[in-house]
Amino acid sequence: MKLRHVTLHQLRLFQSLGTHLSYTRVAEELFLTQPAVSIQIKRLEESVGMPLVEQMGKRIYLTEAGKELFEACRDVLERLRVLSEDMTGMEQGVKGPISLAAITTAKFFIPHLLGAFLKNYPEVEPRITFTNQARVLERLENNMDDIVIMGTLPENMDVEVQYFLDNPIVVVAHPSHPLVGQKNIPLARIAEERFIAREPGSGTRAARTKLFAEHGLKANTYMELGSSEAIKQAVMAGLGISVLSRHSLRLELETGTLAMLDVEHFPLMRKWYAVHLKGKKLSNTARMFLDFLLNEGSKILETVQPHVSAQPGAGEKVVKKAKRSKATGKSSK
Ligand code: PGA
Repeated sequence: MKLRHVTLHQLRLFQSLGTHLSYTRVAEELFLTQPAVSIQIKRLEESVGMPLVEQMGKRIYLTEAGKELFEACRDVLERLRVLSEDMTGMEQGVKGPISLAAITTAKFFIPHLLGAFLKNYPEVEPRITFTNQARVLERLENNMDDIVIMGTLPENMDVEVQYFLDNPIVVVAHPSHPLVGQKNIPLARIAEERFIAREPGSGTRAARTKLFAEHGLKANTYMELGSSEAIKQAVMAGLGISVLSRHSLRLELETGTLAMLDVEHFPLMRKWYAVHLKGKKLSNTARMFLDFLLNEGSKILETVQPHVSAQPGAGEKVVKKAKRSKATGKSSK
């Protein structure tokens, strides 16, 4: 095929030559030497297989083939210029798809934050996958999302981590439970209660187990359920007490369908992190959403979920470096 070896550089030179009809002017315009310009034009002629310019005296003219190529150069280079501008626009605009993955418990606040973000940037098209810790780690490892929201950080992945919100963990009971209204209930008293536990791998469960173990205690686990939603229903049904993220309880506490117990050492403070693989190049939209989480996240939640604001320090980058290897969801009993 003719023109196979033509380069963009040569097309730019030729466009300049067709415009100025002077090697000297081309050389000046493109910061090259005159012989370098001549060599490139010669090579272009070799690729085309026809003379493109003819010199008569001191003047140069485009041949018929040269005129055709000059037209084509203008089209091609203009098309590339427009494309380049479009791409810059895409890069700078806050629009288009953003893909998030989040641990299921985050479903109680991420939609509120996303809703506020979309008010500012209505052309953003969000996709969110709420799933368990093992799946979230898998998605993170395979770089399937722009940003991952989680509370338990991976141990064996090289990731960038930003802490953007606190996650207070509280003890929850049926509103008619005899401990409701008591102050500073001892942890040992709670350990006697029938307890509804989250599944292994849950950060809430790990934090609660650790606290109990630190005090030589073990919960009296009656049943184990795989989601905060299922646990809330079980507590409402009077099957036992539990420990849940305060973020998941806004409606129930407001409407009095569940009650929070005042237990020593609670609330347990966990954190919510925005995570992506180290070195990942975030899209402009993803970067803006991340900034939004860090700067506005806790303020916005204050308006929809009072008492869940961040501690000083939220919005800071967490240093987290580890060797990359297959991630495993850690479980706790
Ligand atoms: P969960 O919450 O794993 O208990 O759903 C997230 C965390 O606190 O790690």
